[in-house]
Amino acid sequence: MRAKIVAGNWKMNNDLEESKSLVKKVAKSIKKKSLNNTRVIVAPTFVSLDKVSKIAKETKVEVAAQNMHFEKNGAFTGEVSAEMLKSVGVKIVILGHSERREYFGETDALLAKKVDTALANKMEVIFCFGEVLEDRKSGKHFDVVESQIKNALFHLEAKAWKNIILAYEPVWAIGTGETASPEQAQEMHAFIRKIVAEKYTSEVAEDVSILYGGSVKPANAEEIFSKPDVDGGLIGGAALNKDDFKAIIDAI
Ligand code: 13P
Repeated sequence: MRAKIVAGNWKMNNDLEESKSLVKKVAKSIKKKSLNNTRVIVAPTFVSLDKVSKIAKETKVEVAAQNMHFEKNGAFTGEVSAEMLKSVGVKIVILGHSERREYFGETDALLAKKVDTALANKMEVIFCFGEVLEDRKSGKHFDVVESQIKNALFHLEAKAWKNIILAYEPVWAIGTGETASPEQAQEMHAFIRKIVAEKYTSEVAEDVSILYGGSVKPANAEEIFSKPDVDGGLIGGAALNKDDFKAIIDAI
């Protein structure tokens, strides 16, 4: 059965002390919970990964990186490799976030390489994608999402999908306070599962967790998570506040 997941993407927030403090608070808030099939993940900046990962090791919280390079090492100033992430105990990486695509020019082709490197290193990938507002207004959102998934993931073998988590993040809902309605999220997630089933098998499609991201807050989390194809959330702003993040975990 596919896992339910609440993942906090801290983006470029929290210095080392703030990161240590927040992961401890998140861990404490779920310490006594029986999480069953639910995973709680936090993604701090590179600077904090080592320390946060050491703290999280003794807890129920898992740690992800927000990005990574596809090469093993070399002259790539400012970049971090899969091996480096693993050396600090990090085995999950977020790839394809719309902020990476928009501000750092990451393309589907580049993301396909990053995905391959992560999987070759036995890491799990939280793969993000989603349409911009104009795409939705012009009714192209299904085509856009399909091509993003196809271009970066459909070269994979079926067995590789056990290490893939999908995150549908409509760009118009990120950090805007405007969420996709639960119906819009469900419609897109069902579409995604359908195209994965068509390309692979219904088993692969049923087993992949599909998260929704974009202005998930304590007030709307329960309704969004209640949809059958929404397996959790990738949370930005609300993940920076321990009480809000806990409330979102409670919602799932
Ligand atoms: P917000 O929850 O702040 O809208 O951010 C969502 C997101 O981009 C998570 O990756």
